[in-house]
Amino acid sequence: MKPFDVYSRWAIEPVRGKGCKIYDKDGTEYLDFYGGHAVISIGHSHPHYIEALTKQLNQIGFYSNAVLNSLQDEYAEKLGKLSGYDDYSLFMVNSGAEANENALKLASFHNGRKKVVSFRKAFHGRTFAAVKVTDVPGYLAPINENMEVNFLPFNDIEAVRERLSRNDVSSVIIEGIQGIGGIQVPEPAFLQALSRLCKETGTVLIVDEIQSGYGRSGKFFAHQYAGIRPDIITIAKGMGNGFPVSGVLIAPGFKAVSGQLGTTFGGNFLACAAANAVIDVMKAENLIENAAVIGNYLIGELKKLPQIKEVRGCGLMIGIEFETPIKPMRDRLLFEEKVFTGVTGSNVFRLLPPLCVSKEEADEFLKRFKKIVSI
Ligand SMILES: Cc1ncc(COP(=O)(O)O)c(C=O)c1O
Repeated sequence: MKPFDVYSRWAIEPVRGKGCKIYDKDGTEYLDFYGGHAVISIGHSHPHYIEALTKQLNQIGFYSNAVLNSLQDEYAEKLGKLSGYDDYSLFMVNSGAEANENALKLASFHNGRKKVVSFRKAFHGRTFAAVKVTDVPGYLAPINENMEVNFLPFNDIEAVRERLSRNDVSSVIIEGIQGIGGIQVPEPAFLQALSRLCKETGTVLIVDEIQSGYGRSGKFFAHQYAGIRPDIITIAKGMGNGFPVSGVLIAPGFKAVSGQLGTTFGGNFLACAAANAVIDVMKAENLIENAAVIGNYLIGELKKLPQIKEVRGCGLMIGIEFETPIKPMRDRLLFEEKVFTGVTGSNVFRLLPPLCVSKEEADEFLKRFKKIVSI
């Protein structure tokens, strides 16, 4: 048997990681400014993370949600405190798409409605409902046809007002910052008006913070720059620093109905040990503040480069747009300068380094990046 060949992969195989660095089997060092799709938050192979997971594995790695699990309670309490949502409830699952799937279903259970509003260029995952609210028609299979979704222009509050005025939309789903859509930051005034309109029309507001959340923007959640409180927030990626774990944060007022949501693996002992270790390190090492400081520094320095069309983003979620396709530059950056970065579309670099990235590493990145843009 061979892996099902759906990925285009770089010809590099990491065998070791430390902080923001990755090493291949020949010992070549790479600077990781991508974090494996924004997943690495506290850095590769953090000693506290290794110790916590090893300890848990030596005790008990897994049991399902058929038993008590005080590690889930401990994690929910820590998450509530650090995120500013201690009055919300937490439902733990395993991936970003699964978190959004459950969020969309919970909204529909809650208000009995069937229709969903999403935004152009949105990405929310690959499961049934999550892929349906993702604005990439090529990802839809014929079986996805029957759920009704309207894709509205991003930042266009009049379009939202018009659509929600019929009082038939179950939920609006929006990314805290659009990631795969090109690092597009929603305007605070747009989010504030969106939140008000959702409340007025009985529509559930779901903010997908799977990529933009968990400290990456320089606040725990990107939407906190707008001062709104969504009804449901989804998290994944940085939450487990590579351990597959995700969550749905649910406002007071949603009724937990026994059996309505469920999962075998979600919130197991090992997943909770990972999530607890990550949040402990984030707090102890002030990684949210670090994301704000280093992110602002990087954005400021990148904006000085005349070759760049636009620099967008917040904290350590940065999009660098060029007038022309970046593939040749990206290849040089990877294979000659040994730097991992992401892309969106054809013209935008996407920087998503671990939140522990240092000023020295940021300067090293800038040095190598300037080299490839000035060729
Ligand atoms: C904003 C957003 N939502 C959802 C997902 C889906 O997450 P997963 O691949 O873990 O299902 C992603 C993944 O890139 C994402 O960026």
